[in-house]
Amino acid sequence: MNLELSEEQTAVRQLARDFVEREIAPNVVAWDRAEEVDRAIVKKLGEVGFLGLTIDEEYGGSGGDHLAYCLVTEELGRGDSSVRGIVSVSLGLVAKTIAAWGDEEQKRRWLPGLTSGEYVGCFGLTEPGTGSDAGNLSTRAVRDGDHYVINGTKMFITNGTWADVVLLFARSTDAPGHKGVSAFLVPTGTPGLTRRTVHGKLGLRGQATAELVLEDVRVPASAMLAPEGKGFSVAMSALAKGRMSVAAGCVGIAQAALDAAVRYAGEREQFGKTIAHHQLVQELISDIALDVDAARLLTWRVADLIDRGQPFTVESSKAKLFASEAAVRAANNALQVFGGYGYIDEYPAGKLLRDARVMTLYEGTSQIQKLVIGRALTGVSAF
Ligand code: CAA
Repeated sequence: MNLELSEEQTAVRQLARDFVEREIAPNVVAWDRAEEVDRAIVKKLGEVGFLGLTIDEEYGGSGGDHLAYCLVTEELGRGDSSVRGIVSVSLGLVAKTIAAWGDEEQKRRWLPGLTSGEYVGCFGLTEPGTGSDAGNLSTRAVRDGDHYVINGTKMFITNGTWADVVLLFARSTDAPGHKGVSAFLVPTGTPGLTRRTVHGKLGLRGQATAELVLEDVRVPASAMLAPEGKGFSVAMSALAKGRMSVAAGCVGIAQAALDAAVRYAGEREQFGKTIAHHQLVQELISDIALDVDAARLLTWRVADLIDRGQPFTVESSKAKLFASEAAVRAANNALQVFGGYGYIDEYPAGKLLRDARVMTLYEGTSQIQKLVIGRALTGVSAF
């Protein structure tokens, strides 16, 4: 694996850094307090091509490889995880999955809008009673002539309130467990689909997280993505790549924690010198730096494997597991460097910690990643 970035990768990272400084950094605190990111950010993300990374240009994408995608995701995560999540879900879990599994008509119907930022996508897997045991979901899709009628509830859906299309997973046959699950592309304007923003989150407050309720939602049979009964494979393949994107976002959080801690340690004086002189502060900063490097290397390895067409699912779980736990540690250590100022939202550490905390929960908890890794090593499944 070559760790030197190509000219194109360096340029896209710089583009993302400039974007963060211009469009995100000045607004982060206000969006967090208002519990809403300015929706205009979606169009702007589309205009610079960040919502089309890795997608073919013939479908409106901006091309690029998975390392470029990670670099952009990291920079956005450094700026604001609520914005990073828009890309990870609308592009990472929805557009990339349509590109991988969709027929020509589905690709032409959805990809140009998703990559330009005209549409937002969301991923409807989790339900109020079904989180880690995703294959056991209970939303039902019943065939009625050349339509399906869908009933059920989806919970904690990132982008849910804003989304124009939901990649929805529902049970459409009587086959047991995950084998009865199919995937559907459901326009959110379809009658019978209602949504409610989830408020009171610890972090990611700017993000439009929602509960979706489907009551007799009718979609044509052509809305099914991939063959009937293959929905769980669609979800798992989406999450395998999605976990890399979450990991990259976590590298961004940890990097932001490092930058803030180093800056503050060089300014704040105690005992007659800046706190950077104190060895225990240097230890906190050194621990953050190590977490940043290790998380980044694990994440880049996944991108490299994907781009070379190699298996990557277990490596993606490793990267997501380590990077999410590292982001929490890094933000917590940065907060310690800031002392009491770290506890108020005029300084960045508290928000970084609140935003980091969910990374060990969504797109598969840390415990699920450990079981995926353990299964690969032992050949024995805990599920
Ligand atoms: N690509 C294609 N197919 C795949 C696949 C992949 N990467 N991984 C698995 N599959 C297929 C398998 O081949 C198998 O198919 P068949 O039955 O046809 O052979 C099927 O999927 C089941 O595979 P497993 O046996 O590995 O599945 P399992 O039931 O053992 O999985 C589990 C258990 C790993 C715990 C899984 O349920 C899981 O990942 N749970 C966590 C759920 C999760 O991550 N939820 C996140 C919600 S989405 C979210 O958070 C988004 C957001 O808003 C930010």
